[in-house]
Amino acid sequence: MARNVMNLFHLYKQTSSFLSGFNGFQILSKQRGSNSFGVFSVLNCRKSPPSKSFSTGSLSHVDREGNTAETTFDFTDENYEKIENILKKYPRNYKSSAVIALLDLVQRQCGGWIPLAAMNQVAKILEMPPIRVYEVVTFYSMFYREPIGKFNVQVCCTTPCMIRGAYDILRAIQSKFNLEPGGNSPDMMFHLEEVECLGACVNAPMMQVNDDYYEDLTVESAIQVLENLRDHKAVKVGPQNSRHQCVGIQGKTTLLSEPPGPYCRSLETEQVKKAS
Ligand code: FES
Repeated sequence: MARNVMNLFHLYKQTSSFLSGFNGFQILSKQRGSNSFGVFSVLNCRKSPPSKSFSTGSLSHVDREGNTAETTFDFTDENYEKIENILKKYPRNYKSSAVIALLDLVQRQCGGWIPLAAMNQVAKILEMPPIRVYEVVTFYSMFYREPIGKFNVQVCCTTPCMIRGAYDILRAIQSKFNLEPGGNSPDMMFHLEEVECLGACVNAPMMQVNDDYYEDLTVESAIQVLENLRDHKAVKVGPQNSRHQCVGIQGKTTLLSEPPGPYCRSLETEQVKKAS
């Protein structure tokens, strides 16, 4: 028994000294979807870069040209103005609450991804330890830590979209633009992802491209939307058929006339009545 305890103690010491050779960022890399610290991520951190984007692949940082701790990053003047306005929303001692808003600014400024130097700059502005910024970036799948294609195509494949043909659309996009889910097209125009429900199920199947939703898709209309975006042609956001917003296919069937009373009471009138 005593020997077993000693063995465990030695194992603990060896593991601790092994881990101390890595910096905090690597040690605290978390396995997505679990709360346990990513010891396996640590063990894998010297391996070759992941084949998928960081939103779905490894969470360990890998130095690449233009993405090292030494790379410089700074916000534009316009974004510094935005930061000033964002920070006004929080008490001075809770500046760190603005971390997601600032990371979103970084991602938009950098064309869809967040370099390590930018995370460090955010930490400096918000006066928080860099590790806490890394934790936020690695936790949320909407932040990318590697360059992605100009158009981030997220195809919803949850049940309502799936039974309306989402996988046909996903496969068609893959073969048309030569990319895999989690990857970029060779011309870096598109980044493709299979995602869960985006909250537009009533107009299924649908996809999100950057900030916009494209709904009521067919294989043909999905490809057409992406080709138009690539070729800088006009695209219609929202339903790609004749549907207006999310009105049923048979048209509006309720609330066709002025609703009958009783209506909301008017507090002003009641106050006047009371006073008189
Ligand atoms: S299932 Fe696709 S948007 Fe909800």
